Amino acid sequence: MDKIILTGDRPTGRLHVGHYVGSLRRRVELQNSGEYSKIFIMIADAQALTDNLENPEKVRQNIVEVALDYLSCGLDPTKSILFIQSQIPELTELTFYYMNLVTVSRLQRNPTVKNEIQMRNFEASIPVGFFTYPISQASDITAFKATTVPVGEDQLPMIEQAREIVHKFNTIYAPVLVEPTALIPQNAACLRLPGVDGKAKMSKSLGNCIYLADTPETVKKQIMSMYTDPEHLQVSDPGHLEGNTVFTYLDAFCRDEHFERYLPEYACLQELKEHYTRGGLGDVKVKKLLNNIIQEELEPIRKRRKEYEKDIPEIYNILKKGSEAAREVAAQTLSEVKSAMRINYFEDMDLIREQAERFGSSVQGEN
Ligand code: TRP
Repeated sequence: MDKIILTGDRPTGRLHVGHYVGSLRRRVELQNSGEYSKIFIMIADAQALTDNLENPEKVRQNIVEVALDYLSCGLDPTKSILFIQSQIPELTELTFYYMNLVTVSRLQRNPTVKNEIQMRNFEASIPVGFFTYPISQASDITAFKATTVPVGEDQLPMIEQAREIVHKFNTIYAPVLVEPTALIPQNAACLRLPGVDGKAKMSKSLGNCIYLADTPETVKKQIMSMYTDPEHLQVSDPGHLEGNTVFTYLDAFCRDEHFERYLPEYACLQELKEHYTRGGLGDVKVKKLLNNIIQEELEPIRKRRKEYEKDIPEIYNILKKGSEAAREVAAQTLSEVKSAMRINYFEDMDLIREQAERFGSSVQGEN
């Protein structure tokens, strides 16, 4: 069977290094591996509206930001189809049919939705669109017959729900849909990169993000202000690694070759960690190493962004072409879904003949 990727992001802000180590970096590797026959990368604007109903302008503004982040990370429109969710009406149609396959109590049990309802103070009144977005996400995935969905850990319940919908659909109607598998980072530090303040979540309002598009100065400032070990007051004190943001970031970004370049007195991260826990290694030295590594990683991304920023109409053109190509694929799946569900009346000559016979009337072209 063909291996197909579908994944995406809500356009509610610029993408940050958490997105990068959690999924973006992997997508580019997968794209360039040549193992996938098709790769669909979606800007999930319709999903973004499910909890930003009064903020359509924010979603609109961030489409191009996310597209620029994608392209500057190395997603290549000649290899991957980049498209906008709302431009594929077939996705909405699929969602309506899938709604029959999911119960309210099943949606209520989705841990990511539960969590988001709390975060958004939606407990008292949840918009139906928001509540049902896991079903819409199942449509996104299945419309493209995706086998593989590279996402962050928080998306696992969505993939699970999509698998259930596929299973139920294929059992009741016909084996049209493909069960997707999630692909999450193997490296624990990449699963959930904390904010620079050590808080679990990077968020714009907390000001604790490092954005892919940040200037080298801003990135450095964020790294030098990073939360470390509050008990590590003097260089000679033994330091702790657990909950130490600088070391979590090193776990996510650092490779042995970085030591040769930036800190040759250590062979690898393990040696650095041992020195830190023993005592005698200052935070500033570790932060400078991290700064060098992250700057090296972000530099080509910034450069490519500058190039793409020179021709913004071309970005929209890429998304328009991608949306047209994506729509063709989704329309094909929808047509298979509708035949399986027996709602393809006008394409089914047998149906018309059968009904004509039942009523004893004639069929055009026959008598
Ligand atoms: N829920 C994802 C996010 O919040 C975005 C998304 C929408 C998605 N549809 C998807 C991800 C389908 C993977 C597959 O970032």
